[in-house]
Amino acid sequence: MTADPPWTVRLAAEFRSRFGHAAAPRVAVAPGRVNLIGEHTDYNDGWVLPMAVDRWVGAAFARREDRRIRAYSRVFDETREIALDGIAPPGGSDWFSFVAGAAWALRSAGYRVSGIDLAVDGDVPLGSGLSSSSALVMASMLALCEASEIAWAPVEMALLGHRAEHDYIGVKGGVMDQLASVLGREGHALLLDCRTLETDLVPLPAEAAIVVMDTGAPRILAASAYNDRSRSCREAVAELRGADPGIAALRDVEPGFLEFERGRLDDTTYRRALHVVEEMSRPFALALALAEADLVAAGRLMSESHASLRDLFEVSSPELDLFVELARRQPTCFGARLTGAGFGGCAIALVSAEAAPAFADEVHASYRAEVDLPSSVFICRPVSGAHILDSTS
Ligand code: GLA
Repeated sequence: MTADPPWTVRLAAEFRSRFGHAAAPRVAVAPGRVNLIGEHTDYNDGWVLPMAVDRWVGAAFARREDRRIRAYSRVFDETREIALDGIAPPGGSDWFSFVAGAAWALRSAGYRVSGIDLAVDGDVPLGSGLSSSSALVMASMLALCEASEIAWAPVEMALLGHRAEHDYIGVKGGVMDQLASVLGREGHALLLDCRTLETDLVPLPAEAAIVVMDTGAPRILAASAYNDRSRSCREAVAELRGADPGIAALRDVEPGFLEFERGRLDDTTYRRALHVVEEMSRPFALALALAEADLVAAGRLMSESHASLRDLFEVSSPELDLFVELARRQPTCFGARLTGAGFGGCAIALVSAEAAPAFADEVHASYRAEVDLPSSVFICRPVSGAHILDSTS
């Protein structure tokens, strides 16, 4: 069983004293994620292989009988309040907008949402590419569903979480982060088909560990660079449809076809499309390698993916490249790559489990010798997705 984050007890106590509730609140938690492979493929209708990890956002909550949402964030030490009926896009990009956005998305799907008091906290590093924002949206949505007696349908709720981020907050990401946060399973990664929403569980071999290497570098211009990359993908599809109108997304493009029709695309668009088209097959290949506990093959795929993101899709950064390089110099490392959108944030390494603590220390020391940023390195474990804690009293 996934252990509950210890700070949820403190959060429940804070909820009671701050909002003056006599009864213990219930607590919803939702995890952050790393993506093992399949990067910038989700918004191209492709496959991804994320893993929900033991870093969480928690929301202590109780229903209110008026139609208001009142929320306190421990991280930002701030209380905010809004009338449910007054929530309309566009929201902001502050923490409370993710809470309000979850309520807006549920209501936009026709659900009757009740008022709620919420206190939120978490240990997913903020802005590092481990999906702290999706974890906040999904924890808030689970709390809202429980308080409003709305049945929790994980895939539907993940899609509503995506709508909250896409249409209310205005972040134009794909569906991977929200799905990983609700569908995660202890000990497993998830092979997700972002077109059909089919999922397969892929066990992480016991002899393997995933180490997160957070560069500490701010993700400057990440949102505009992300939107620029997704625009390139759409442009590639528009041009390639001239040769085959059946193409709806880059998922429908075979590598040979892209090569043959290359003349339709400018060089940058071609290289970006090439990354996506080649990356499409890596989630299957990595899932197979992990199922066979072939860590050498798994590591090679991860390193190939990083090279493609660095050279073709151009979303890496000097700090990410450095961490990946330092990791790969360690004999206990099978492969490493950036994870998430890129432009700063985190890289991950596939390492032999018994060597992981020493690996983490050594890689971090070498990185620190060259880079003066608030970096961190830690081993993560695959956990189950969003759920209500049994008890916090
Ligand atoms: C961000 C987005 C995801 C996905 C990744 C890149 O994390 O939120 O939907 O597009 O970037 O793979």
